[in-house]
Formats: sequence, structure tokens, C-alpha cells
Amino acid sequence: MGNEPKNLYQQDSNGYYIYDVAQTHLEQNYNDYTEDDHKVWQILFERQIKNLPNKVTKEYLKGIDIVGFENDKVPNLKKVNQFLAATTGWEIHVVPGLIPVKEFFELMQNKKFCATTWLRTLEQLDYLEEPDMFHDVFGHVPLLTNQPLCDFVQDLSTLALKYIDNTAVIEAIGRLYWFTIEFGLIQERQGLRIYGAGIVSSSGETDYSLFSTEPQRVPFNATEILRTPYYKDHYQNKYFVIYSFEQLYNSMSEIEEEVEKIAQESLLAV
Ligand SMILES: [Fe+2]
Repeated sequence: MGNEPKNLYQQDSNGYYIYDVAQTHLEQNYNDYTEDDHKVWQILFERQIKNLPNKVTKEYLKGIDIVGFENDKVPNLKKVNQFLAATTGWEIHVVPGLIPVKEFFELMQNKKFCATTWLRTLEQLDYLEEPDMFHDVFGHVPLLTNQPLCDFVQDLSTLALKYIDNTAVIEAIGRLYWFTIEFGLIQERQGLRIYGAGIVSSSGETDYSLFSTEPQRVPFNATEILRTPYYKDHYQNKYFVIYSFEQLYNSMSEIEEEVEKIAQESLLAV
């Protein structure tokens, strides 16, 4: 098996890859990466690592030193996992692609973060239909060294699993994940910075999210986010700004209260 296990699995009607998380143990087949794969990593890595200073949270820069990425080689996830184990105890769990939400949250409840092992091609550097390894690993993994952020994701996953059969709640929790872990901004003493992996892995959205006059940038408000729809096919028109990762974790009780309201409303709407 190469590093395109996604090709071996069927997708459900939502486009999620169906495979048995408990039975199937996917691994990164490191020796299968081609020269072109390493070249793609190098181009994307070098472009964005030059772009990020003074734009990304200092916690990400601390993290990227810890996880041991190299500019000219696709990261070896076994080695990255050793570094993560020694910091927050999280690990990267190899998946074929986007997987159903129940499995996604179950894995994160157990400190396992989903990542693919395939990379975009040289022809697709800036356009992707679904997240590849550069997004999953370069975008997300350095902040898996940050304990408050990890604790937030774990608690959010536990909450999602409590309501896993309630579509309205799962959609609301998905919004919270989207506007923080994927597209969050943080106000640091030195200035506004990005931390969401969807921005970190996109050189275009890095500058757009920080400097464009088009989008709104508003203070983080968990209650508002739970009721704010998002769009997947273009840059965001609204970004929520936290002032610390502890703030995310500390918002869990507010999130739980609002989620319970959404659950009640969804029962009334039936
Ligand atoms: Fe992501």
C-alpha cells in the first residue's frame, strides 16, 4: 500500500471515507514517498515558513521546533509522534481522508489527531478539494504541543459524542471547531496572529485573514460561533479572535450551556 490509502476506501453520501477505525491500522509508508512528494513538501514548507514569522502565534513556532519538521523531507509521523508523546501525549492517527464525525471525535477524545499521508501534486500546489498531509500535519500538528488547545479539543470531542445523534448540535460544534482550530486568530502582545490550521497551511489566507479590509474580525464568542454558519469554498468573511488558548479551554462551560439550549430547540422543532 502506498501513501494513498484513501483510494482503497469507499466514501459515504457526505464524502467521508468509510473504514473501520477499530479494525484497520493504517500506517505511513515512508519509503513509498517519491522525490516529487518530498519536493512538494519542500516547496510548500519553505514558502510558508518564510511567510509565518510575525504572522503566526508564537505557540505554533515553539511547536514546530518541538515536532522536528525538516524543510526538504516529508515528516516521518512515527518520529513526530515520539515528540508529541513527550509533550502533550497526543498522537497522529493515520486516516484515508475525511472520516465520519463520530469516529473523528472518538479518536480526538482519545488524544488521536487524524491525518492523511498523501500529498498534493506539484500541479495542485494551491488548490485542493480535500485536506492533504500538508494541511493536516504542517497546519495542525505543531499546536498539538499546546496543552490548553489539546484539552479544549478533547473536551469538545467528549461533548460532541454526548450529542452525536443530534444533527443540530453536531453542526454547531462543527462551527466551533471551524472558527477556532481551522480558522482562528489570536491577539498577542506583539499583534494579531493566526493559529487556525486552515490559515496556517494557506499562504493566501494567511495574509488575507490578517491584512485584508474585507473580512470582519470580532472577539471570540462561543455562543455566537455555535450559531454562525461557515463556508468551505472561499476565504472566510468573519474571523473570531481569542486572546489566549486558555480562553478556549475556559469557554467549555459556556459551550456546554449553549449546546444544551440548541439540543432543546432541536427537540421542539421536530
Ligand atoms: Fe484541518
